[in-house]
Amino acid sequence: MDEGFRVTPWEVSGRVDYDRLIQEFGTSKIDSCLKERLQKNFGELHQYLRRDIFFSHRDLDIILTDFEEGKKFYLYTGRGPSGHTHLGHILPWIFTRYIQEKTGSVLLFQLTDDEKFYFKEEMTLEDTRKMAYENILDIIALGFQPDKTRIFLDTEYIKTLYPVAAKVAKKITFSTVKAVFGLENSNNIGEIFYTSLQSTPAFLPSVFEGRDTHVLIPCGIDQDPHFRVCRDVAPKLGYPKPALVHCKLFPSLMGAETKMSASLPETSIFTTDAPKVAKKKIMNAFTGGAVSVEEQRKHGGNPDVCSVFAYYQFMFEPDDAKLGERSTACRAGNVLCGECKQVLAERVIEFLKAHQEKREKARAILEKFVVRD
Ligand code: TRP
Repeated sequence: MDEGFRVTPWEVSGRVDYDRLIQEFGTSKIDSCLKERLQKNFGELHQYLRRDIFFSHRDLDIILTDFEEGKKFYLYTGRGPSGHTHLGHILPWIFTRYIQEKTGSVLLFQLTDDEKFYFKEEMTLEDTRKMAYENILDIIALGFQPDKTRIFLDTEYIKTLYPVAAKVAKKITFSTVKAVFGLENSNNIGEIFYTSLQSTPAFLPSVFEGRDTHVLIPCGIDQDPHFRVCRDVAPKLGYPKPALVHCKLFPSLMGAETKMSASLPETSIFTTDAPKVAKKKIMNAFTGGAVSVEEQRKHGGNPDVCSVFAYYQFMFEPDDAKLGERSTACRAGNVLCGECKQVLAERVIEFLKAHQEKREKARAILEKFVVRD
């Protein structure tokens, strides 16, 4: 990929062209036909589907057929616990919860403390484990069903994972890992092996159920390379290929064309941010505003490149009509950036306060969700 953007599980940079990604990764667009089917089955079309934030899939139609036939399938998603949770991380989790709500599916939630230990030079295994437990509070706070949600850390569930991971690893060559992930001879062997552990939960439901069981994986499109490998391996091991739904990457406060990154804390809102801190970040955000108030009143702003507008679109304006009005008012120069930021800050603070309360309550029920072996 050389058209000024790059999307891999380790790096997202440049202005991502999502249509091109569909082509290059060989996934399918979530088209109007599929949306209609989703609406028919689930009664409502989630905001993320209406706005093409979940925009791409592999075999989602097979999962819908299962649902229509009353067959059960599992959900699987995950998190690499490299730091606190930011709003970009919870986007696919919110969508996962929506599917769980609609289908009653069991969810496997993997926290890859090993992955982040292998890939982050500065992090110890204790660091990544500690962060995993912090992240679990955010997951629980989102309202997953305790009897249908199994959250695990790789290092604490390894007896269950390892037999499948070993089978997967035997089917993946070093050259494949080099080609798909850009790893080199100088990478440590944990990094090389890791993808087999990310594949494993996609096959565990078939092991648990003792028969072929479909799995749907909601994730950021940057995780697709792992699951391409996973889907190649599946038939070689006699498991069904997992289905996927991919979302776009939540923009950072540096502009609608950049991805939130935990390594630039000033440009992301973390679930643990104090309201004041969050507000300051928003007030400093990059917008699509003109150079001066006069200019903006005259020529308007550009919501397409505005990170504040992106926040409304991704999370903080559920009403499509109101989102449209905000965009029109911006382009017409009828609303200025300061005003737009102020309203956003209020909504973000309201969200954070409610989330942080639930996050604290999650401590008491954490053991209902976590599985170990
Ligand atoms: N590799 C992912 C990350 O860095 C974590 C992960 C593990 C994951 N399993 C997954 C993400 C399944 C999405 C779906 O965050």
